[in-house]
Amino acid sequence: MTSFEQANLLDLDTYSNEDISAVLETAEAMLPILQRPIARVPTLRGKTVAMVFSEPSTRTRVSFELAAKSLGADVITIVNSGSSIEKGESITDTVKTVQSLGANMLVIRHQASGVPYLAAKTLDIPIINAGDGSHAHPSQSLLDMFTINSELGEIKGKRVVIVGDILHSRVARSNIWGLTKMGATVVLSGPSQLLPSHLQEITDFQDRVSTDSNLDRAIEGADVIMALRIQKERMTSMCMPDIREYAQLYSINKNRLGLANPNAILMHPGPINRGVEVSDEVAYGEQSKIQSQVINGVATRMSIIYLLSGNSREVPIGQS
Ligand code: CP
Repeated sequence: MTSFEQANLLDLDTYSNEDISAVLETAEAMLPILQRPIARVPTLRGKTVAMVFSEPSTRTRVSFELAAKSLGADVITIVNSGSSIEKGESITDTVKTVQSLGANMLVIRHQASGVPYLAAKTLDIPIINAGDGSHAHPSQSLLDMFTINSELGEIKGKRVVIVGDILHSRVARSNIWGLTKMGATVVLSGPSQLLPSHLQEITDFQDRVSTDSNLDRAIEGADVIMALRIQKERMTSMCMPDIREYAQLYSINKNRLGLANPNAILMHPGPINRGVEVSDEVAYGEQSKIQSQVINGVATRMSIIYLLSGNSREVPIGQS
């Protein structure tokens, strides 16, 4: 029986191709559970998954909550408003308190890069990074890879164009790690002030990453176009693009989508700035997999919670 060796999910730099494949295969096995009239198994009955979200979230928080509940776990959620974070309690004290209250796993989002690593050093329960500053968002990357696999059959050999605010994007960083490990090539595109060249160097597979600020050229022959949100909340005036000009040069519209492979898919981690990163016409068009990403997020996060709880891939889910 193969056990899952990873203790935490902090980013995908420490995950091997086999670890990522284990998460994606287990997520596939979770989908039928979600299609049952009562989408719940008793696998994690008696366990508590704590969520500490000190930055706004809709998709990640709700899908982790649904994922934990579908596996039979109890869930406690702490957001800034109404918690002692508002009174100035440090994040270290908050997560220690959560563990003392009986949490068996912690899912954490924080505006400061590195906070999930601090939690992993402080606590002795599995830690899942649900997004830390501009650093990493590994569960988003795993659900993105699950979606690419489902829609295109495999990740290996695919040309993935990630376009937009690369500078501030934790989604881009985790996807550079994950996609290149799984054999895809990644082209980063966006206005030059939002397109740092050093990101090519974060992966062990540097020959699989390139940058091109000319989106029309980058998109030719793409299998996947992943548009990113312009993160106004993280911009300084130095790097904030003119939104109208940005939309003209980088918004994914029908004409631009036509430059990609005919069966190319459009993705976006959400939330979308409508009309800025993608036109309404393509956001809800046939090639858009944005809603599938949301649904796949629950199965993928069930897989992550299940594997980090010490479950083996081979144990029939729901019978462990
Ligand atoms: N994609 C993503 O992280 O969305 P939320 O901020 O809504 O969780």
